[in-house]
Amino acid sequence: MNTKSDILTILEQNRHRDVSGQELANTLGVSRTAIWKAVKALEREGHRITAAPKRGYRLANEVLSAEGISACLNSPLPVHFFPVIDSTNSEAKRMALSGAAHGTVLTAETQTAGRGRFGKSFYSPEGTGLYMSVILKPGDTAVSDAQMITVAAAVVVSEAIEKLTGQKPGIKWVNDLYLNGKKICGILTEAVSDFESGRVESIIIGIGINCSTRVFPEELTDIAGSLGDGKLSRNRLAALIAEDLISIFSRISDPNIITEYKARSIMIGKTITYLSGNTEHTAVVKDINDRGNLVVEGSEGSVNIISSGEVTIKQWQR
Ligand code: BTN
Repeated sequence: MNTKSDILTILEQNRHRDVSGQELANTLGVSRTAIWKAVKALEREGHRITAAPKRGYRLANEVLSAEGISACLNSPLPVHFFPVIDSTNSEAKRMALSGAAHGTVLTAETQTAGRGRFGKSFYSPEGTGLYMSVILKPGDTAVSDAQMITVAAAVVVSEAIEKLTGQKPGIKWVNDLYLNGKKICGILTEAVSDFESGRVESIIIGIGINCSTRVFPEELTDIAGSLGDGKLSRNRLAALIAEDLISIFSRISDPNIITEYKARSIMIGKTITYLSGNTEHTAVVKDINDRGNLVVEGSEGSVNIISSGEVTIKQWQR
């Protein structure tokens, strides 16, 4: 039993009311002194807790935590929170190899070695972002659906942000999210395979969202932005994303996913550059096909399909 965690769970589940010290003591079967000590420990961890005489305790702020995320879930999932971690995706891989269950959620307040796509690092400052990974077990899902999982993840995160903030991020192929011309979220999907069978045992979906980050390193200032909403509940956002990822994964062949992806895409009509071998090409995006690939037209009229790699938007206006 962990009194501190149990109290946080009860307070997160009862944000709308004061919970008396006596009620906490009775529910948890510990003394009022033990409750008081645990409340003080929670305060030292950044939780602001009001203690109204004769009424009791109530959370007055929002701190990212496993208990806070769990309180926002409709059905329970294994949730892990790390104040500091190298990378939630790296930890998720380690946990997947040790048998972590489908739907395991990992979040961190900060990452010391946050990873992005194409070997890039992901800036993960403390307190202002949501850095999370979800472990999915594909079971018999065909590996060819891995591409669709990347596409589906972008839809889920864009929808979740819209639901909680009213802002609608656009999707830059393949799964970066943009608001007002700046990247506010990156998604890194990785597979953990069984060496013997070559079978994909786990898929790790890593999501990094700049929620209220204001200051970025110089090399990111022109590119990166944030939701700009310090009041956004990161616990609610993490819970919503985790549940929706699990749900969309169970219907990954649903054609509506691509329809929604296209509706949220900022690519169609844009002039882009991309690499094929060592050659850089310029083309205009004509469509996104039912596999989530880009259909582009080169200046000489040739039509090509881009299924992987990085593309750069050259001209943002249509
Ligand atoms: C990208 O923009 O290229 C993808 C960035 C993905 C960042 C997230 S943050 C949580 C998870 N842990 C990581 O190390 N990376 C992903």
